[in-house]
Amino acid sequence: MSEDRSDTHRVIEPSVLYLGTPVYLVATRNPDGSTNLAPASSHFALGRTIVLGLEEGGRSLDNVRRHPELTVNFPASHQWRHVERLAGVTGSDPVPEEKAGAYAFEPRKFERAGLTPAASDLVQVSRVAEAPIQLEARVRTASTSGSGEFGIVEAEVVRVHAERGITVDGTEHIDPEAWHPLIYAYRHFYDRGAEVGWTRKTPFAVTPPAVERWETAGGTWRIAGVDDDSATVELLRCDGGELVETLTLQDPRALRWAAVQRAILDAR
Ligand SMILES: Cc1cc2nc3c(=O)[nH]c(=O)nc-3n(C[C@H](O)[C@H](O)[C@H](O)COP(=O)(O)O)c2cc1C
Repeated sequence: MSEDRSDTHRVIEPSVLYLGTPVYLVATRNPDGSTNLAPASSHFALGRTIVLGLEEGGRSLDNVRRHPELTVNFPASHQWRHVERLAGVTGSDPVPEEKAGAYAFEPRKFERAGLTPAASDLVQVSRVAEAPIQLEARVRTASTSGSGEFGIVEAEVVRVHAERGITVDGTEHIDPEAWHPLIYAYRHFYDRGAEVGWTRKTPFAVTPPAVERWETAGGTWRIAGVDDDSATVELLRCDGGELVETLTLQDPRALRWAAVQRAILDAR
């Protein structure tokens, strides 16, 4: 492949790299047993591990270094005003030098945010009752980033609380259609958009009915072509593999299914 020397990109120096991450409210235990609550977005989760990026000098990081438990509460997009009410306050008294002028000390974060504390089951830190997803977690490590500016907090999620309305009845799944995290992208809040695709692991991905019927009758099939608007599926006899029928699919769900099948087959 030749090197791309086209003019499609330029080098920039953005002040932040906030590409669009769900916002959470991290609750931690203050030395007097009360709860601190702070908005943040830096995190990733893999399996039952969640890793948070928290500023050095903030109350939240000081708290988890002293009491290694926390709750991570994910608000829905429409709850952004509650988050914003905490944006100019810190639980640190006195206010750290770097925050002087821009932040005020606030010991009662829940009242300030207009949110309600709820007791946790397994940790001694409250959850945010209004947040649709609430994680109780125990801190494994709270290390300092290479730059010295941030704490990297790795925690084990020990309990997940999900609002009934965003779960799929009879399963342990969150319904991704019902769940609307508050997305923080380049210092703006967003809702998420519509679903655009599936992966081979998508739990509710379904085979188009016509293909399903053909398979049930013992036939095989292959994807002859797929693009954004249409997919062509050839239905084949299971014995000789002769082409019996060509289906043209246009339903968005069928197109997602076809693209996933194509990717699976191309990887073989
Ligand atoms: C939307 C949003 C996202 C933020 N993301 C982070 C973050 O990922 N990590 C962090 O340490 N601070 C983040 N902050 C800033 C903290 O909320 C702020 O430093 C606050 O003072 C921390 O409170 P504390 O000192 O009581 O812990 C974010 C603030 C807002 C409003």
